[in-house]
Amino acid sequence: MRPDGQSVKAVSFAKLESPTMAIPPLAPYPATRLRRLRQADWTRKMVRETSLTPNDLIWSMVVHDGQEARIPVASMPGMERLSVKEAAKAAVQARDLGIPAIAVFPHIDGAKKDGYGTEAHNPNGLIADAVKAMKDAAPEVGIMCDVALDPFTDHGHDGLLENGRILNDATIERLIAQGLMQAEAGADILAPSDMMDGRVGALRSALESHGLTDVMIMSYAAKYASAFYGPYRDAIGSSKALQGDKKTYQMDPGNTEEALREVALDIAEGADMVMVKPGMPYLDIIRRVVEAFAMPTFAFQVSGEYAMIMAAGGKGWIDEERAMLESLQAFKRAGAAGIITYFAPRAAKLLIG
Ligand code: PBG
Repeated sequence: MRPDGQSVKAVSFAKLESPTMAIPPLAPYPATRLRRLRQADWTRKMVRETSLTPNDLIWSMVVHDGQEARIPVASMPGMERLSVKEAAKAAVQARDLGIPAIAVFPHIDGAKKDGYGTEAHNPNGLIADAVKAMKDAAPEVGIMCDVALDPFTDHGHDGLLENGRILNDATIERLIAQGLMQAEAGADILAPSDMMDGRVGALRSALESHGLTDVMIMSYAAKYASAFYGPYRDAIGSSKALQGDKKTYQMDPGNTEEALREVALDIAEGADMVMVKPGMPYLDIIRRVVEAFAMPTFAFQVSGEYAMIMAAGGKGWIDEERAMLESLQAFKRAGAAGIITYFAPRAAKLLIG
């Protein structure tokens, strides 16, 4: 109802109704010409509702345990696995570009993988080394670590595998050891991406009991069993290893209400921030989560999204830079607080001009 008592017929506006938003009383054309505000760059800038800055970006980065400085990832043109030394330089670059944080993922030598993902909590392993090197080089940059076993297991699953089943509670024990090791190495944010039930609460109480009370948790709260992770598994060297799929722990792409339950649980268990993953195919979920919980909600623009833009760009089928920035802007428009993305350094450079 409008203040004058007349009911509003504009169905498309009525659908967007929220308690804080009044329905604008639009004058009919030609009194209203929406194109007036689009006539010049300055007017478009003046009325733009959301904007993207380097502060919105979390740099998704893969490190490896070899000596080679940079190793290209075939399915992700422009992406390279970095040595620990290069990662430290990249942290400095992140700081200089105004990128607040880096999410670091490991690619380890296959010989170090086993059924239990033992290497995941090695205090002298690749992740500990990378975190320390990056925090030494640029302490002002936040470091976020993935809590999950898949880069370390010979079967490529995020949890322990027994007779074809992923064990929930036994996996959590491993994740706690991994998360504590990461926090003790200096990680600022733990990001459990494993999708076991109860892992956020278990991690939070382990951090509390070890006096690591300032360590943040960004949970991969609504993480879907997605085809868009393909190139990542190539990047961390788990694609050949992976037996079967991850559908018994990652979410079914058809579900929304379940995503809200996942997010609600993670918040109740002590998550400081939540994430929706993948990104672009799940913008509706981001919007729902932001509206329902008013929590800092992040989108992960995953490897497959990156690969699609780069592949089409490389063929000259789309304008790669514009598509990249538009895809990132879309997350802000959907309500995301920020985006975890492989494009972070490139996008930041363009944004700061
Ligand atoms: C695994 C993990 C995955 C990603 C981040 N952590 C892949 C998976 O669940 O198989 C995906 C990242 C990407 O595709 O960019 N714990």
